[in-house]
Amino acid sequence: MVQLQSHEVIVVGGGGAGLRAAIAAHEAGADTAIVTKLHPVRSHTGAAEGGINAALRDGDSWELHAKDTMKGSDFLADAPAIEVLAKDAPENVIELEHYGMPFSREEEGTVSQRPFGGLSFPRTTYAGAETGHHMLHTMYEQVVKRGIQVYDEFFVSRLAVTDEPDPTDRTCHGVVAIDVRRGDLWGFEATRGVILATGPAGQVYDHTTNAVTCTGDGQAMAYRAGVPLEDMEFVQFHPTTLPSTGVLISEGVRGEGGILYNAEGERFMFERGYATTDGELASRDVVSRAELTEINEGRGFEDEYVYLDMRHLGRERILDRLENILHLAEDFEGVDGLTEPMPVKPGQHYIMGGIETNEHGQTCIDGLYAAGECACVSVHGANRLGGNALPELIVFGRRAGLHAAGVDLGDPQIVTGRRGAVEDWDGTFETEIGAVDPEPAYTDSGVGTDVVEAAIDAEQTRIDELLDREGGVRHPEVRRTLQRAMTDHVNVFRELSGLQIALKEIRSAREAYQHVYVEDSGKTFNTDLIQAIETQNLLDVAETIVMGAIARTEFRGAHWRAGHQARDDDEWLKHTFVSWDDGAPSLWFKPVLLEGEKTYEPTIRSY
Ligand code: FUM
Repeated sequence: MVQLQSHEVIVVGGGGAGLRAAIAAHEAGADTAIVTKLHPVRSHTGAAEGGINAALRDGDSWELHAKDTMKGSDFLADAPAIEVLAKDAPENVIELEHYGMPFSREEEGTVSQRPFGGLSFPRTTYAGAETGHHMLHTMYEQVVKRGIQVYDEFFVSRLAVTDEPDPTDRTCHGVVAIDVRRGDLWGFEATRGVILATGPAGQVYDHTTNAVTCTGDGQAMAYRAGVPLEDMEFVQFHPTTLPSTGVLISEGVRGEGGILYNAEGERFMFERGYATTDGELASRDVVSRAELTEINEGRGFEDEYVYLDMRHLGRERILDRLENILHLAEDFEGVDGLTEPMPVKPGQHYIMGGIETNEHGQTCIDGLYAAGECACVSVHGANRLGGNALPELIVFGRRAGLHAAGVDLGDPQIVTGRRGAVEDWDGTFETEIGAVDPEPAYTDSGVGTDVVEAAIDAEQTRIDELLDREGGVRHPEVRRTLQRAMTDHVNVFRELSGLQIALKEIRSAREAYQHVYVEDSGKTFNTDLIQAIETQNLLDVAETIVMGAIARTEFRGAHWRAGHQARDDDEWLKHTFVSWDDGAPSLWFKPVLLEGEKTYEPTIRSY
């Protein structure tokens, strides 16, 4: 039975950005609801370990935070966004503290801060090595306290967007969701705005720190509705993940003084000259490349990993600040971090790109916002600094919530959509891209519930097709093909030939997806159906990553390209965009904004 609900602001996703957005929208007086496929405290923000960057201390400043972030981004971030992040982070972190967040503290009671990679000041505030977990619980308490309506276990699978030819003329009126418990479709009208806060898309890879639920749902829905995905080729590989599972071992270990060494006992970050000043605390792209170089040149252990050692920190300090790491190493790798070094290797962790937004979280579609990892505002550019994801969630989650609720945040400096100085890519791909059987996601002109009802009908048709198909291909097979192609060919080191193979594999997977069927015909907790839909989302997102990686013929931040071994500021100080024009993706560029309140001149980036 179809149900239709109406709220002023609908937040999709109950992780850090979603909760913060909902609190802000509610406080600004909007009737707000969260619609989320997981219970909020099961969101992937709970896996964030190391901390939140904010300039809180004497000797630190928002200017230093902004400068470090721009350098970390390899000069591909937008200055106005970075400056908002650096300026708003302290107040937002103090607010969390007032909500009751159990931050780690110094003897005298002040909130502790630790060094993190690429920071010129130890500005990473933390709660042990489970900062995201505490942040999620702290904010969820605030949501409950305010009585904000949460529809949990509702999988949003389609946006209700009008169908004008130019995406910048479209309006989002709500969303369609599957009630996971009962199997019915629900429509949610949003009279003021929909905020996508659906998190990462790390499941496009098979060795990732991201939860199995991180399937790029928001990115894929916004993309299909006409919003460009920005800078998707920039994928972060975290240097310290457990080899057998991809489970994250926090950068906090290195922040506290943990060291990396190779099979020859060398502290290679220094001894082999990868980062002679900052060593293990160089930015993540630098450390991941160094580790893989060591492994590829035969100085790894079992040709697969290096060691991360924290034994010298001593039991007391480890138990005080990194206890969670002991449990992870023991439970997932059978290693006792107090007495043994931990095996680690790079693993996919974060995607710097995402749904293009301005500083208020607005996309180019009226009434549609995005915040958090699914979005690209852009503060991370070509490489995110550790500890900058959590402030992004709260700073831009809050701003999106306020703006959607009608609060005037002033004129944005970032222009969204195909407006302004747009340059089309003049290259071609060897493989056909985009939809095999195009179907626009936007559904109807008209207003409000008409658009939501049309979107429900379109979604019902798609679900019926999946459920009615008898025999064919199983979605885990399609997902595995995709994950292997991405892991093998779109990793830390990239070559054109490998990227082209990946694009071909994605094409085959898209063709195979036409024959995907759902075995479970039941309505209750039909995770078979949900995963089939998630797999389609992954295909769309993965293709944009590879398209951007093929087009960008330079080496910048996390994007290393064989044959293009230098950053090329003359040609490439520009963001990549991929937009889905009725199922046919196109690739284009807009210039990076290096001027905000300050000007950021690109310099050589070394650590
Ligand atoms: O290493 C970590 O604790 C991860 C932090 C982050 O990605 O910001």
